Amino acid sequence: MMPIGPLMIEHRLIERMIALMKRELQQAEKEKQVNARFVEAATHFIKAYADRCHHGKEEDILFRELKKKDISKEHNKIVDELVQEHKWGRETTAKLMDANMRYDKGDEEALSEIAHCIRLLIDFYPKHIEKEDKHFFLPVMEYFSEEEKEAMLREGYEFDSTLIHQEYADMVSVWEEGIKGN
Ligand SMILES: [Fe+2]
Ligand SMILES: [Fe+2]
Repeated sequence: MMPIGPLMIEHRLIERMIALMKRELQQAEKEKQVNARFVEAATHFIKAYADRCHHGKEEDILFRELKKKDISKEHNKIVDELVQEHKWGRETTAKLMDANMRYDKGDEEALSEIAHCIRLLIDFYPKHIEKEDKHFFLPVMEYFSEEEKEAMLREGYEFDSTLIHQEYADMVSVWEEGIKGN
């Protein structure tokens, strides 16, 4: 399998979460309330899976290796755009998490901010994914030898296996910090 194989498989799971978010938005618009538990799960998914795990592999492995190659102006421009888009996605998700926390504590005003951020994210992700799947991933594979592709695929698996331990170590640290603060 090429290193873009796992990335494309991950895109399919992100799309399934986006479909759930679309449903939640429609529901929220109809009922003028939101399921804060779902929004909490959705933002955790985007932060941990779509950003840290998925964008992490794109930026830290694929884009890093591309930067070592003499890539076309067009591909270089797309890498820069994708990095900017990841940054925007991260910031918008943080805003959504913040609004959801306020809403969960009883701030009804936060509902419109939640709806706004969900609307932005469900519009953003399909376009971002399409850009990578249809206009970027396959053409940039041409820059790499079979050995280089194999090495990137292997590094991706290592990245994932390290991440799960990092994720839970961070969770313990956050709760330890909370205890210290009390
Ligand atoms: Fe991406
Ligand atoms: Fe992606």
